[in-house]
Amino acid sequence: MSPAAASALVVDGVTKRFTTPDGALTALEDVSFAVRPGEFLALIGPSGCGKSTLFNIIGGLTGGFEGQVRVDGAPIDGAHRAIGMVFQEESTFPWRTTLDNVAFPLEVAGMGKTERYARAKNLIKLVGLDGFENRYPAELSGGMRQRTALARTLAAEPRILLMDEPFAALDEQTRLLLGDRLLQIQQALKQTTLLITHSIAEAVQLADRVVVMTYRPGRVKRVFDIDLPRPRNSEIVSSAAFGHYVAQIWNDLREEAAKGLDESEAIARRTGQH
Ligand SMILES: Nc1ncnc2c1ncn2[C@@H]1O[C@H](COP(=O)(O)OP(=O)(O)O)[C@@H](O)[C@H]1O
Ligand SMILES: [Mg+2]
Repeated sequence: MSPAAASALVVDGVTKRFTTPDGALTALEDVSFAVRPGEFLALIGPSGCGKSTLFNIIGGLTGGFEGQVRVDGAPIDGAHRAIGMVFQEESTFPWRTTLDNVAFPLEVAGMGKTERYARAKNLIKLVGLDGFENRYPAELSGGMRQRTALARTLAAEPRILLMDEPFAALDEQTRLLLGDRLLQIQQALKQTTLLITHSIAEAVQLADRVVVMTYRPGRVKRVFDIDLPRPRNSEIVSSAAFGHYVAQIWNDLREEAAKGLDESEAIARRTGQH
């Protein structure tokens, strides 16, 4: 097998430009990386570096870019059924219970009620929401709603799970514990996962490799192998090895984060918000 065919997902030379009122903006420039089957890859970068743009490109929601996205070696054009997306913003259906949210993709696929509820209940258990099947999203916490969205995405049995800062709105402790949950799920399903995040701790806690992006235009700055033993859980955050990786990644990232901060302050001065 060639190295390319051994990758579940390949992002190859992706460049994306937007036309804005201030002129052309290069959001991503020649971004290339590959995710191996069963691998957990985290992509980290400061706000505005093009993470969500890349998420939308891989998920087939944004077109008009240079380069290629390949799944199992074949270029994709638009949404691909192998890829399941979990969005940053809340995406549960408020008018549906947890059970009917999670069963939704199965319902769309025409699966009968008994079977889709049985499958949905298994996934609800997997994300740790058993007992909450009949609650509506408004009756759940933010973390529980994100787990509902995750279970709903998993119901479609995507081979590649693609997540854009799914826990960004949650507090640090909840994030760490949901990270544990995600690790258990990945262990159970052996799912190829690409997690987009701006949290170094989250990236190191969860990933096999961490791709660090530059600030605008977003490029791959460095790729770190996270050689921490598995199975992992959030206890790892107190280990020396964990701290070592966090320090190394921060060393690379701080420069990029600083550029983002400088730029947003310059914009604020120009627009008189300072
Ligand atoms: N549809 C769009 N039109 C114009 N500019 C966009 C559009 N989407 C994103 N951008 C710009 O591209 C850059 C990257 O944005 P984004 O991908 O959301 O970054 P991140 O998710 O890393 O915070 C930002 O400067 C943003 O303003
Ligand atoms: Mg984003």
